[in-house]
Amino acid sequence: MLILGSGEVHQVLDGAEAEVLAAVRRAYLLHDRGRTALPHSVFLRFPEDPRNRIIGLPAYLGEDAPVAGIKWIASFPGNTASGLERASAAMILNSMATGQPETLLEGSVISARRTAASAALAASALGSSVPETGVSLIGCGVIGFEILAYLRAVLPGLATVTLFDLDRSRADAFAARCQARWPGLRTEVAGNAEGALAAHRLVCLATTAAAPHLTTDACRPGTLVLHVSLRDLTPESILSAVNVVDDADHVCRESTSLHLAEQLSGSRDFITTSIGSVLNAAEPFRRPGDRVTVFSPFGLGTLDLALADLVRRRAEPLGLGTWVPDFLPAPVGAASG
Ligand SMILES: NC(=O)c1ccc[n+]([C@@H]2O[C@H](COP(=O)([O-])OP(=O)(O)OC[C@H]3O[C@@H](n4cnc5c(N)ncnc54)[C@H](O)[C@@H]3O)[C@@H](O)[C@H]2O)c1
Repeated sequence: MLILGSGEVHQVLDGAEAEVLAAVRRAYLLHDRGRTALPHSVFLRFPEDPRNRIIGLPAYLGEDAPVAGIKWIASFPGNTASGLERASAAMILNSMATGQPETLLEGSVISARRTAASAALAASALGSSVPETGVSLIGCGVIGFEILAYLRAVLPGLATVTLFDLDRSRADAFAARCQARWPGLRTEVAGNAEGALAAHRLVCLATTAAAPHLTTDACRPGTLVLHVSLRDLTPESILSAVNVVDDADHVCRESTSLHLAEQLSGSRDFITTSIGSVLNAAEPFRRPGDRVTVFSPFGLGTLDLALADLVRRRAEPLGLGTWVPDFLPAPVGAASG
């Protein structure tokens, strides 16, 4: 068993935006071509504390050098008050020859980067005729910051970021981090969510809201909303938008805004397409200039696998990680001497 901790994961993923984007893109393409296996995620919730959860995402990503494994990711929103991150995770990769667990990786960095890469891929694939010059981020946490970094990688014209967070101190701290990391980026904090929605035609929602609290009424026509936190928009706003998802079966569950929209409308007809099908199409997707387009990624376990495999492959030649040679039982012949 090879164990790779967060420092080692950072070491191989920091500055590797192009490789991460390529890995996530390939995972979406393979999913669209039916080359994945993706059971529903398992949500473990606690009767005494409905805010917290731990989700298991088993997955298989096929074709050349197939990978199988699982991400086990906890969300404890109260952690941030004591300086810990909301999310923490572990990943296991299994051998496709024997099924044995081979690699154990710290998973929160992988999870954040694959989420950011998927949002950035959508922002570039669901383009418009007007280049994006600014982005609004509602929810100023770990995921928002990673998304901003990946958006900057795919949209070099991004010059302004407008921030909003229910907790003003989180928005101010986020703005300070942006200034330190990207001194040329203009950073402003909006007074309310509507101000942020109206500021740019590219909007990202990465809050911890458990139930819808926003409409898209304040958005400009032609806006693309990256609805990463999945439960912010009212079902009515979803029903009036052009909707792109990662997988309709996955995203219409667990009281997401799309799940509520399905319950309200009685069908999934409001979903226009999937990101995998957009990426596989011969013709580029142009989002309409007179409506709002919403990208809602459930967050597929195949993306985590793609990145974990990338980490493992990049870590190996660098000699990173800790080997635990006797983690698994010895083969029967060896044990008996
Ligand atoms: N779809 C995916 O693939 C995917 C993957 C990872 C995380 N997520 C989701 O992204 C979200 C953000 O994760 P994070 O790790 O950055 O969390 P975080 O706790 O670090 O940050 C969330 C921020 O949202 C703010 N917030 C909460 N409610 C708000 C509201 N109504 N309006 C404005 N701001 C609000 C909080 O104050 C906090 O600053 C979570 O909901 C998480 O489940 C989605």
